Order: sequence, then structure tokens, then C-alpha cells
Amino acid sequence: MSFAPYERPVRAAFVGLGRIYDLNVRAYVDNPDVEVVALVDPSEERRAQRRADWPAARTFTSAAELAASGLEVDAVEVLLPIPLHADGVAELVGYGWHVNLQKPICNDLADANRMLGAAAAGGRLLRVMDNYIFYEPLVKLKEIVASGELGEVTGYHMKMVASGRGGWDVPGSTYEWQFQQMRRGRGTLVFDDGWHKLSTAIWLFGPIKEVRAWVGTTEVIPGIEVDAPTTLVWEHHSGIRGVWDITLAIDMYLRSDYYTNDERWEITGRRGYARVNRCTARGIQQPSLEVYVDGEMRSYHALDDDWASSFRDSGHHWLRWLHTGEGPMLWSGDEAVNVLRFALASYASNAAGGTGVDPDSLE
Ligand SMILES: NC(=O)c1ccc[n+]([C@@H]2O[C@H](COP(=O)([O-])OP(=O)(O)OC[C@H]3O[C@@H](n4cnc5c(N)ncnc54)[C@H](O)[C@@H]3O)[C@@H](O)[C@H]2O)c1
Repeated sequence: MSFAPYERPVRAAFVGLGRIYDLNVRAYVDNPDVEVVALVDPSEERRAQRRADWPAARTFTSAAELAASGLEVDAVEVLLPIPLHADGVAELVGYGWHVNLQKPICNDLADANRMLGAAAAGGRLLRVMDNYIFYEPLVKLKEIVASGELGEVTGYHMKMVASGRGGWDVPGSTYEWQFQQMRRGRGTLVFDDGWHKLSTAIWLFGPIKEVRAWVGTTEVIPGIEVDAPTTLVWEHHSGIRGVWDITLAIDMYLRSDYYTNDERWEITGRRGYARVNRCTARGIQQPSLEVYVDGEMRSYHALDDDWASSFRDSGHHWLRWLHTGEGPMLWSGDEAVNVLRFALASYASNAAGGTGVDPDSLE
């Protein structure tokens, strides 16, 4: 679709004012590219809490109420529970608003196609935000790979340990829809948080040719199973192979201002390796990025490695793009569908006993 940037600040509304609003809002604060005009959430408590951030904005209990109000809106920051993404986006683009949607795009390809179709039919943009590709240590990691100093890449590894203690509080209402997702086979580690790892794989090394998966489960409270231990291995079209292991350490304490997730990305080349030591939580308290080549280790001590900054930068990127057209815009709905295919191919592989599945073969 053709898009003409706004030559004035973008008029934006938040739809969904829950836990992750606290980080997404950072892109909007003191940002001359945007004017926040509305806040939408059925919860009176949430509206009251967030109204203090935007005294000039109007509040609404639903997007339909906002649309009927006559208030002019250009774009919406959509922070809805995952089960509401598909219907929510179809409705919001139908009102003529561009959408910046939290990941994952939705649960299956039929819904994704419906969402993309609705956006295209209305001539609106659907962006699916992934803050990880704006996390400075990962951005730097990508630059180091591209510089060639590691030599030709021979493989890479991602690690994720979900721990049960530490971090910020997550409301009970959030767990309710997360449990609903788990019961639908879209677990919180592989599909929700895992979305970011799959995203970074495609962002770093391009399209996936084949994935093999072994998805395990652990019952954490009666009737609730978390999707670990899990291991995914895959090959990109370039021939580079990646592996990602997910482990649950329910009694482990991790220091974090956000979620408790111990994460690592390690890329090995013919001459050396580079490793991002942490992201969401402060598991390894060493420099967030280290590079080893020819017997010497280089450490980055001054990167902005606060995970929240990646939300700020992702949102800045979107709002700048809407306002000025400075691009390319990361990432589009189509790129999000590739991430969804990667996740769904992992489930298909697991169901078939771990055989290789080409994400593009899924219908
Ligand atoms: N990028 C990340 O790292 C990251 C981290 C956490 C969550 N998320 C994503 O953010 C989204 C929201 O997650 P959360 O943790 O903030 O959830 P949450 O449950 O804390 O918040 C959801 C909010 O949406 C509101 N809501 C429900 N129905 C609504 C409707 N019809 N219209 C408007 N508001 C409605 C709820 O009242 C609630 O305030 C999800 O897609 C989740 O996957 C992303």
C-alpha cells in the first residue's frame, strides 16, 4: 500500500492499559512525533491509573465508543490480550486507524490472513512490534556479525531459563488469558515470550528452511502446564543452523525490574564468537555483550541494556516513521507471519515426533 507520512504529530490512542503499557508508554512520553488523544480499556481501575499520565486525553471503555465519539485518531497502540488480537485488529483497522500491535500477531494462519486482509482492504498499516530487535546489545551483535570480524558464521545458540522468583508483579487477570492460551497449545515460553527469540533468529539470519522441535511440559500448579523443557533446532535458507533451549527453574530467584527470564544469544563464526549475556532480567551481571576473536575478549560496558529501552526505541521508530516516513519500517505484518509460521512449524514438528518441517509448507 502507499503511505503518506503525517506532516504533524500523529494522533494516537492506547487500546489496552495493562501490564505492558508501563513499557510501551515510554515511546510516547516527551515525543514530539505524537499526541496521545485517547485511552481505551474496559477496566475503570486501569483507566483511572493511566489517565494521570495523559491529562489531556479522553478515556473510553471500548474502541467502538472511541470510534463513535468523533475524536480524530490516526494510529492505535494495541496492547490487548492475545486471544483478542485477531478480532481486535480487524475492528480497529476498520475504523481507519493504523495499528501497532504487540506480538504475537495471533494464534493461527487463518486469523493472520484475516488481519492482513482487513488492513489491506482499509489501506491501513499493521505493524507487529518486536522490541527485541531494538535492544541495543542485540543490535550491536547483528552489526558485529555483519562486520565479518567473527569470520563466516558457523552456527548459533539461544538459551532461555524461565524462573519463578523475582521481577515485577503480573496481575491475576493476565494469567487468566495466558492459561487460556496454554490450553490452546500456545504456551507462554515457546509462543508468547518465545516469539521474540524466533523473531531475532529471522532478523539475524533470514528465512527458515526447516525446523525440528521437541516441546515438553511441566505441571507448575494442578492443571496448569508450562511448555518446558523444550528444544528447537532449525536451518536457515543460508545453511546456518540455530538451536534454542528452554528450561524452567521454578524456584530460582532472578534479579529483574520486569519478567524473570535468563536469556543468551551466542553466535559462533570461523574465527570467534559474540555473546549477548542477558536481556529481560539481570541474570549474568557482566557486560551485556562480549566478543571473542583470536585470543582476545572485548566487552561492551556502555550499551543501553535496560530491556525497557527497547520498547521506547521500537515505539519511537514507529511514530517517527508515521510522522516522517523515515524507514524502513520494522516489522511489517508479513514479517510477523513468517515468525508465526516458524512457531507453528515447531508445533507441527513436535506433533510428528521431531521431524523436519518447512515453515512455508504450512497452510
Ligand atoms: N513485548 C513484550 O516483551 C511483551 C511482554 C508482555 C506482554 N506482551 C504482549 O502485550 C499484550 C498485552 O499483555 P499484558 O501483559 O499487558 O496484558 P494485561 O492482561 O496486563 O493487559 C491487557 C489489558 O487489556 C484490557 N482489555 C481487555 N479487553 C479489552 C478491550 N476489548 N478493549 C480494550 N482493552 C481491553 C484489559 O482490561 C487489560 O487492562 C499481549 O499481546 C502480550 O503478548 C508483550
